[in-house]
Amino acid sequence: MSDPARVAGRRGVIGRYFEHLPVSELTPVVTLDEGDTPLLRSERLSMETGAEVWLKYEGLNPTGSFKDRGMTLAISKALEAESQAVVCASTGNTSASAAAYAARAGVRCGVLIPSGKVALGKLAQALVHGARVVEIEGNFDRALALTQELAANHPVTLVNSVNPFRIQGQKTAAFEIVEALGRAPNMHLMPVGNAGNITSYWLGYREATQLGWADSTPRMFGFQAEGAAPIVRGHPVDEPETVATAIRIGNPASWDGAVAAARDSAGAIEAVTDDDIIAAYHSLAREGIFVELASAASIAGLRKLHQEGAVEPGSMVVCVLTGHGLKDPDTAMRAETPLARVDAEVTAILRAMDLG
Ligand code: F0G
Repeated sequence: MSDPARVAGRRGVIGRYFEHLPVSELTPVVTLDEGDTPLLRSERLSMETGAEVWLKYEGLNPTGSFKDRGMTLAISKALEAESQAVVCASTGNTSASAAAYAARAGVRCGVLIPSGKVALGKLAQALVHGARVVEIEGNFDRALALTQELAANHPVTLVNSVNPFRIQGQKTAAFEIVEALGRAPNMHLMPVGNAGNITSYWLGYREATQLGWADSTPRMFGFQAEGAAPIVRGHPVDEPETVATAIRIGNPASWDGAVAAARDSAGAIEAVTDDDIIAAYHSLAREGIFVELASAASIAGLRKLHQEGAVEPGSMVVCVLTGHGLKDPDTAMRAETPLARVDAEVTAILRAMDLG
């Protein structure tokens, strides 16, 4: 009879890419069946830009963000190492994912977050999965430094993307894109915060060519928010500010990885404004795709490159949508179409619906 844990393992990213990840038969696989997310073609963005635009909808992972791909590996390896507790600093999604996978594994989870700067849904996730959530007066960069210090001196495993297993797990999204398209795209666009994910995708695309799954790698473009764009400015930003709280980061841990991805692929790291991020958020929503603000930076970036004439007509472009819109109900409630309240009567209802 097959071992139920191994059967379950075959479904998530560890199961599907077992030979390409640093795991063995001895690794206890902790999975919520992450990965295998949709790659949606965007007719609107294809029309708008003249390119063939595909959206990797990572918000459909189990906890609603791409973090789950790395977390399945980080938590499985923590369990393999007999760690009793994991910790992370987070702008929200890492903590939601760490809390869920730690609960699944039966290990304790502590998270450190910047006070008042984590979207409600993410906070709710960390709490409901039983993590010990601690807020500090200070931004993500400070929280990460404190968490690293804590993990260096106590028997706990750090599960931020400075943990190499996170990067390994997250590279599987590039594998899936190559599988779905039958090739690598010409351009790959994504938001950049702590810069782990762009490091992962670049690793994944390079491995895909080494494995013979693709014969080229895409140009890699990362987008930071204007008020939190340390890589673009060339120096850390002490007080990063943006509506896209997920990428409100002034001193990315994987800075070098992001720079290498852009440089070695003939891509770039650029900044997009909060207004352009908000506009992109709404236009995706009008296409039926609900993302959180940080994810919309990919689309704001696509528009920026298109306006600069940097998107070749007919080329294949993939934009990563990193997190689900339900993560941040407060932003969604400030939507363009307000809630109407009328008398319980058909004529008034029709009028309010613009139908009569
Ligand atoms: N998009 C979303 C929705 C994110 O949550 C993050 C990072 C990013 C993009 C940027 O990815 O850091 O690998 O460059 N969120 C982290 C967190 C920092 O704590 O949840 P990155």
